[in-house]
This record gives sequence, C-alpha cells and structure tokens, in this order.
Amino acid sequence: MKPSFERFPILDEDLFAPEVLADSYPMFRRIRDLGDAAWVPRISMFVVGRFKDVQAGLRASDALISGEGVSANEAVLGEAAQRGPTSVLTMDGQEHLTHKQLLMKPLMPGALQSLKDRLAREAAEIVRATATGVEFEAMSTLASHLPIRIVSKMIGLTDVGHERLLRWSAAAFDCFGPADNPLTQAAGPTLFDFLNYGFTLSPDAVVPGGWAAGLFEAVERGEIPMDRARAMVFDYATPSLDTTILAVGEMLWRLATVEGAFDAVRANPALITPVVYESVRMATPIRGFTRHVRSDFALSDNVLPAGSRVFLLNASANRDERHYRDPDRFDITRNPRDNLGWGHGKHVCVGMHLARLEMETLLGELVRSVRAIEAGTPTRLVNNGLHGYHRLPLILHPA
Ligand code: HEM
Repeated sequence: MKPSFERFPILDEDLFAPEVLADSYPMFRRIRDLGDAAWVPRISMFVVGRFKDVQAGLRASDALISGEGVSANEAVLGEAAQRGPTSVLTMDGQEHLTHKQLLMKPLMPGALQSLKDRLAREAAEIVRATATGVEFEAMSTLASHLPIRIVSKMIGLTDVGHERLLRWSAAAFDCFGPADNPLTQAAGPTLFDFLNYGFTLSPDAVVPGGWAAGLFEAVERGEIPMDRARAMVFDYATPSLDTTILAVGEMLWRLATVEGAFDAVRANPALITPVVYESVRMATPIRGFTRHVRSDFALSDNVLPAGSRVFLLNASANRDERHYRDPDRFDITRNPRDNLGWGHGKHVCVGMHLARLEMETLLGELVRSVRAIEAGTPTRLVNNGLHGYHRLPLILHPA
C-alpha cells in the first residue's frame, strides 16, 4: 500500500537543481516554514527541516532506519534493499553497534593522541608555506592539507593516492542524488570503479598499522567476514576527506569576513573550540541523509507514515531560527555543541573527534602565526551530497 501524503504541504521543487545545491538555504527556509514535514513529489519522499524534528528523527533509529539505504537514489536504494546492509552507514540495530565499535577504535580520542604531534607539525608546515601575504587558493591547499597528509594515509590503501580518494568520494556523494539527475549519472562510472576496487580489496594491498588493516585483522580474529571488512573500508574512504575540507573552508571564510572574529580568537584561544563547532554548524558539509520509515513516526504535528522515505535535512536544522537565535550569523561565542553537522543519535559521525582535532590544530597554528586573514570571491561546490566552497582565494598576513 502506498503511504498517504495528502495531509502534508507539497514542495514541488527540485532539491537537486544546481542552484539549490550551490546554496540550499533559501529553499531550506521555505521547507521549515511549510511545517514539520513536506512531501516532495519529484523525489517521492518527505523532507524534514526543523531542528526539533530532524533531531528527533535522527534519534529514532528503530522507526527511521538506515538499513534500506540513506540516499535519494532509487537505483542505489533498490540495490541496497536487495543486497542487504553493507557499510556501517547503512546498518541497523545490534549489527550496527557491533560493527561501529570496531570502526571507531582508531578514531576515539585516546587513540587519536598518537596523531597529535604529526597534525601539529603538518599544520605548522602548511601555515608557514601559505602565510606569505600573497593570495592563494585555500580549498586545495590549506583546507585540504591535514585530510590529505594525515587522514588519507591513515586509511592505508597502498596503491590509492589522495586524488583518487577525493574523486571517488565526490562521486559517491553525487550518487546520493536521484537516479535521473545529471550529476548522479555522470558520477556512475567513477562510483563503479570505487566499488570494484573496494569489493576486491586484498589484505596485501593495505598499509600495516592503517585503519583498513585494522578491519582485515578483525577478519583474521574471526570477528567479521571478509566481505564486511571490505564494505567497511568505504566507511573510512568516503566521508573522511571532503567533509573536513569543506568545514575548514567555511571556518576560513568566516574568520576572513566576519569583522573582529579572527582578532577575538587570537586574543582568546579558548574560543578555538567554539569556533570549530560554529563553523561545522554553519557549513554542515553533508546536507542530510534519508531514512526508510519502518513504523509510523510522530513529528511535532504530523505523523510520517510507515513505508515512506524521509530526507532529514541536518543543514536546514542547523539554521533553524526556532532553535538558534540569528542562525545565519557566525557567532564565535555561540558554541553550538548540539548542532547536527556531525549527525546525531546512533549514526552520529565516527570521525567527529578526528575532524574536530584537525580543525582545532589548524586554527591553533593560524592564531599563533597569522596576524590577519583576507578573502577574495569564493565559488561554491555543486554536488548532490556535499556543499560548501569549491575555490576560496585567501591571503594570510604573517604575524
Ligand atoms: C567535518 C567533518 C565531518 C562531517 C561534517 C561529517 C558528517 C557526518 C554525518 C552528518 C554523519 C551521520 C550519518 C547519518 O546520520 O546517517 C556521519 C557519519 C559518519 N561519518 Fe562523518 N563527518 C565528518 C568527518 C568524518 C571523518 C573524518 C570520518 C572517518 C575518518 C567519518 C566517518 C563517518 C562514518 C563511518 C559515519 C557513519 C556512522 C554510522 O552510520 O554510525 N566522518 N558523518
């Protein structure tokens, strides 16, 4: 039986149109103003954009499940439903918890201690190289440096450089979009290459001591089967680079353009962590994920019917004026630790401690070695799953 959506407001627009992907916030505001949920005929699913309802939806992982896929792409969803859960992102229940614990081992704060010195050295190196008073492109240099130099190496795929990882990841996020979307279609072959690589990955092709090697060691100990370990390599390889790069891009842009912000952090380094949280709230590099509605789910006013699909818009929730005062303003004292940029509930991001450490380390170095930041005109990324800056001209004036 088809779920009923007659009682809901209709949003007859394309959430994946290029101009919406580049800047989704005007549409997100309309979605929030329509109510706690709206029906979007073009993608045959509900959208939820208010903080309270997105947060409640992310918490309700028994009713709103991930195991039937989290994208908006019917082809990918159909395949996921047939093949069963693969990566941790698309598992549910106890199976999800058990596998997530394994995935998280090298990403917990204690384990990350061993990366701190390397992150600090690399941050110092890239800031020294770019703080010259001369304009440079920051997304591919300053913002990418720690994800490329440290994170891509920690994943530990011997024959795969960061360029290929970034291409794969952008394609995987593009394939999040509807099947008839041009970006989804263009990304298909690259995603296929990625899947092909991952599903035939041999334990000999990973760096000893790396995160992928940790998964194959779990196979040797009899904890998980080989096909599961291979699928979980995608959990490290897909979301670990661009997300952080985009969040850093937002942080740099805001510190360059919001009057007094960088001076205030320089004067009071205790603001570094609040700035990181506020940057992740403002950036929300992943707009949101979808869920299958397994059982009727009550939002603030309406009930999402069992059998439907819902797109939970983390990025909209993070700009909800019902939850954050003056939400479009970058406020370095806000410290929004509850923001949904890293998700919420059982599927909350496993890489959030690492991403936070990368951002704090870089900002710490900027505060020490840079006097002022200036920005030129940025261009925006157009991707079905990710949003943020594509190119960001910047000048760092050395201290
Ligand atoms: C600023 C950087 C990052 C952002 C904004 C981000 C965002 C997110 C979000 C919104 C989710 C929730 C998924 C859901 O609700 O279904 C998530 C989950 C996840 N993230 Fe991140 N992420 C970041 C960095 C990373 C890094 C560095 C890694 C790996 C090293 C990573 C690995 C994962 C994995 C494996 C999941 C799935 C967790 C689960 O399903 O239980 N992420 N991330």
